[in-house]
Amino acid sequence: MSEFHRSSNAKHGDPLPPDVALLRNHLATFGQEHVLQFWQQLDPLKQQALVRQVEQLDLKLFGDLYRNACTESPEASDGPDWESLARRAEPPNAVRLANWHDGATTSLGMTPTDARQRGIEALRAGKVGVLLVAGGQGTRLGFELPKSLYPIGPISQATLLQIHVEKVRAASRRYGVSVPLYLMTSPATHEATVRFLQQHDRLGLAESQLFVFCQGAMPAVDSQTGRLLLSDVGEIFMSPDGHGGTVAALAASGATEHMRELGIEQLFYLQVDNPLAPIGDPELIGAHLLTGSEMTSLAIAKSGPYDRLGNFVMIDGSLQVIEYSDFPADVAERVDDSGSLIFWAGSVAIHVFQVEFLRRAQALADALPFHVAHKKVPYVDAGGKHVTPAEANALKFERFIFDLLPQAQCPLVVEYAEQDSFAPLKNAPGAEKDTAEYVQRMLLAQHGRWLKAAGARVDEGVDVEISPLFALDAQGVAERIQPGERFERSVYLGAADE
Ligand code: UTP
Repeated sequence: MSEFHRSSNAKHGDPLPPDVALLRNHLATFGQEHVLQFWQQLDPLKQQALVRQVEQLDLKLFGDLYRNACTESPEASDGPDWESLARRAEPPNAVRLANWHDGATTSLGMTPTDARQRGIEALRAGKVGVLLVAGGQGTRLGFELPKSLYPIGPISQATLLQIHVEKVRAASRRYGVSVPLYLMTSPATHEATVRFLQQHDRLGLAESQLFVFCQGAMPAVDSQTGRLLLSDVGEIFMSPDGHGGTVAALAASGATEHMRELGIEQLFYLQVDNPLAPIGDPELIGAHLLTGSEMTSLAIAKSGPYDRLGNFVMIDGSLQVIEYSDFPADVAERVDDSGSLIFWAGSVAIHVFQVEFLRRAQALADALPFHVAHKKVPYVDAGGKHVTPAEANALKFERFIFDLLPQAQCPLVVEYAEQDSFAPLKNAPGAEKDTAEYVQRMLLAQHGRWLKAAGARVDEGVDVEISPLFALDAQGVAERIQPGERFERSVYLGAADE
């Protein structure tokens, strides 16, 4: 029985009516009694659903988060003072691309070949899984389905999800194991994603290879008043709790237990909007293992100080990410004697995690801070009217996965070329970057480079799209394409025989 239900009807076996007075009191303690303003219009089922929603919310937490977000002075706020932290930050210790080739001595005493071999060993031993997060709402893109189902393949129209799944299948084939895929959805994306997977035979994954789990959700509050926003007369608006919600969701769903049963020790983490993510890349996994890192992050060199990427920095000896929006311009603009950006390392949300570290972090899940975002959230006003605001009206609270870095032992940053690792689909057509057109161009350019390296001739104006099941990378293309092979017409090179 719930805390807001009367106990007297229990003997009749009827659903217990909510104790409205108790509920109202509870909400009033936190200034949220407006949640019940349409109570009389709700049918009993909707009333029950609303009670369940209230029960699951930590109203004190939202009050505290709102007050904190409204506190201008860093001294009076519980949140980090990013400005002063950024001012004493140093660049991260990292494997730089320019120093990362065989024959060069890196500060870590390993070469790419060492790393690659170690990574391949772990993959072949079946110790690596893939963690793909696909719970975001994709608001900027404005696509009606979950972003994972966006048909991004420039010729094939393959969805983002299909491209990722094909990489997992191709890695499984290459290393002779069944690499498991842990796919995180959210209440906003779960149903449509699962339906799509059912309709498409799990995109070719074995049943035992796919573990789908759903992250949690958080309400949003009115930025003027701190009151919870309603998405309907009997419903509190909820949205996914950020990719940092992965940590708690892994534990709650049993995914971590599933990893233990399969003997998965490392997880390659990526986000669904980036089809260039080098899933299962043995060099990254090997560098992570050889350095004993609990969390290894892929970085790209920023093209300018204001790139909209999180910044990897060292603060008081600890590796952290400071979001671009929290990074003061004058710090971002700092350059060294050669004119290069001191804070060069941008985060592209690709990490390798030691599973044991994630397990430890689950005990600390509440230690991941909440980040506040000012967003447009449609809501129901006091008159019961649905309102779509023209300006940001709400504060949303999300946890971010990169905030685990300071908790990790021996964290590592490894630089990759942007053209081989990062092309996220974020924006609707018309934006400067990160649109579907941009992502497709990046995919075709990568496939063109692989073909060129294999000695193929691609005619001017011809596009060749390569399925991960045809070739996972440049090495795979070289194994299947003869030098001198000519492409005169645009084509999709699909699945090779498995
Ligand atoms: P973004 O923060 O860019 O969100 O998430 P988004 O949903 O892609 O787009 P906007 O901001 O609403 O326009 C980056 C990645 O993290 C995942 C998303 O699915 C995306 O791949 N993510 C984000 C989650 O899995 N859960 C979340 O709660 C938030």
